[in-house]
Amino acid sequence: MSEAAQLQDARTAPPLVWAQLKGLKAEDLARWRVGPLENGRSAEERNIDGLPMPFGWFAMCYSDELAVGEVKPLHYFERDLVLWRGEDGVPRMLNAYCPHLGAHMGYGGKVDGPHLQCPFHSWRWDGEGRAVAIPYSPTIPPKMQLPDCRRSYPIAELNGFVWAWHHPQGTAPLFDLQPFAEVGHPDWTEFEKHEWIIYGPMQTIAENGADSAHFQFIHGVADYPNYDIQFAGHRRTAEVHAKMGTPRGLVDGTIAYGVNGAGQPWTRFSGICETLLVSGVTAIKRDLTHLRFAFTQLKSDRDGPNGGLARAIIRDICKQLDQDKVVWDRQRYIAKPPLCRADGPINQFRNFFRQFYAGDEWAKYREAAKATGH
Ligand code: FES
Ligand SMILES: [Fe+2]
Repeated sequence: MSEAAQLQDARTAPPLVWAQLKGLKAEDLARWRVGPLENGRSAEERNIDGLPMPFGWFAMCYSDELAVGEVKPLHYFERDLVLWRGEDGVPRMLNAYCPHLGAHMGYGGKVDGPHLQCPFHSWRWDGEGRAVAIPYSPTIPPKMQLPDCRRSYPIAELNGFVWAWHHPQGTAPLFDLQPFAEVGHPDWTEFEKHEWIIYGPMQTIAENGADSAHFQFIHGVADYPNYDIQFAGHRRTAEVHAKMGTPRGLVDGTIAYGVNGAGQPWTRFSGICETLLVSGVTAIKRDLTHLRFAFTQLKSDRDGPNGGLARAIIRDICKQLDQDKVVWDRQRYIAKPPLCRADGPINQFRNFFRQFYAGDEWAKYREAAKATGH
């Protein structure tokens, strides 16, 4: 490839992390994305043990993974959870352990109308954590008749995902999810889904978009164009206009990208092949994150002469995630990084992201950080 051609091609010399992936392909690569990590280090060793988990809306599963009447055990936010879809079609979620005598309701629990029936003594629970019936007792302990926001979760279903609002103090939702008209639209394809387990905190993953310099070295992007990140309330957005190398030469393309809260990133590619990527990022633990990518594309692009390009766009974005994962899985959190001007708005990002840490948790983290000098 000539030097000029290389400059126009977004993928240039193989970035160093590719060697770590050892040429994994297809099923092996998909397994690596969610598999265990060899020689992983503890959250403490990586200075992420004190970093709080953000509050907000987080993906629990795809809508089509939860049938009417289905009960699912989940583990997110360092909690055991039980998610069910009532016979009325509405998803609901509680902490998994039954307050009566502690059965895990995700294993043997059963849907009864809109409610969940505990497998142990058949108490029925509603989605707000109230006991609504005890089959062998005419009365219900008064405390169990009250809603419990520390055990229950506001649930929403949007863009093909089931979302839960998580706040460590049980505070009600402080902002809304962002809808995307493309999802489920007849002109757009069904989701193509990919997923990763990242051995790192949500903040580190989110920081990637503000880290301008890494695009060249981790992703092999020849010339990453300047872009402005806008921080507004609970939303962060950026728009990149770039000449993109395609088999048909350079094409003007736009990549718009945003994150709603801490858990709902999205990216829209337009110009060469209309693609929307809707994502869900959810903390399993403070140093372990579940990341879902769902792509939808205009059917006329995907099934037409642009089909190869449409698939290449998805492959390329997933490859970028693989490259980032190699670093994220072992990265240590540097609380006060020595940044160069060209590093991008990393500090601005961190100030923005801090709004998703409940006040007292952030204060606790700062105090501990001061004591240890981090
Ligand atoms: S433990 Fe759930 S009803 Fe007894
Ligand atoms: Fe990246």
